[in-house]
Amino acid sequence: MTIVPVSLGSRSYDIVIERGLLGRAAAHLLPLSRGRSMAIVSDANVAPHLATLQATLAAAGVASEAIVLPPGESTKSWAQLEALTDRLLAHGVERGDHVIALGGGVIGDLVGFACSIVKRGCGFVQIPTTLLAQVDSSVGGKTAINTRAGKNLIGAFHQPGLVLIDPDVLDTLPARETRAGYAEVVKYGLIDDFAFFEWCEANGDKLLAGDPEAREYAIAHSVAAKARIVAEDERETTGKRALLNLGHTFGHALEAETGFSDRLLHGEGVAAGMALAFAYSARRGLCPGQDAERVAAHLRAVRLPDGVKAAGITASGATLVDHMRHDKKMDAGTLPFLLARGIGRTYLDHSVDLADVEAFLDEQR
Ligand code: GLY
Repeated sequence: MTIVPVSLGSRSYDIVIERGLLGRAAAHLLPLSRGRSMAIVSDANVAPHLATLQATLAAAGVASEAIVLPPGESTKSWAQLEALTDRLLAHGVERGDHVIALGGGVIGDLVGFACSIVKRGCGFVQIPTTLLAQVDSSVGGKTAINTRAGKNLIGAFHQPGLVLIDPDVLDTLPARETRAGYAEVVKYGLIDDFAFFEWCEANGDKLLAGDPEAREYAIAHSVAAKARIVAEDERETTGKRALLNLGHTFGHALEAETGFSDRLLHGEGVAAGMALAFAYSARRGLCPGQDAERVAAHLRAVRLPDGVKAAGITASGATLVDHMRHDKKMDAGTLPFLLARGIGRTYLDHSVDLADVEAFLDEQR
């Protein structure tokens, strides 16, 4: 078992990582249940995991009520938020209770946001069931829903009280989703940890083939990196946490071009976006070209897209930059970009000219 603490003063919490943890989750949840029934929010895709969790709680004498939402990105909506908050209030959730979010990023983001507003804030526990949620979205307290104007534009920072990660639940995750989540693993190496990128190059294939040790090591290493960054800059105000957005600005533009459809999963957009951030950095003379090529080569080796074409996007630079102008990171007319001086040497650049990005993207077509 690995326990990674997230140090945030009175909002501190632990991330527990252990194979088979779901079946033993009651030991960690019992102290949070306060002798009351726990609400578990999940979606139909994780029904077997829900059954395991409810059984372990029942065996420990903890009652639970399952709230099962439709799977998919469209669940992160005002309508589902309203329905969920109604259900939580009907369940009798109090501020001191912990609601359990059992699922991928959609469930985690929606439940976290609901818990930030129910009775002006109640507790919640993240039990992520996708690799992407395990290494990124379940940790750090970013919660959100989507609106007509874009993804994740309405939300709050609301930290969970506990994160329980069972790498074994990934056994049943579709391979494409595991690969997409792996992009966020590679991200930690590219941000500030060259040795971890080398680990990814050597072990990425093993991890994606389901090797339990490789998987557990990568998850623990990734969440430790995320915990460290979040503890330094919880609300993304100093620029440190912004490093976690590496590849997201380019990636977001590619995702927007697909209408945020399954044509390009978020992690696939991030993979292509990271390759583009490195290629653009190399074009600007900030980063050695061989580093950009090495990043792209690893992404290709694990069959993740390494650029615009590989992501299946044919849009012009102007169209993609137009998507970027709607990015929620826009700041008084400029868009801060995560660029790189090399692998493991990412920084936030406030001086990027969008016309130059447009020309670069046109060259990529
Ligand atoms: N996924 C980026 C962050 O949590 O800050």
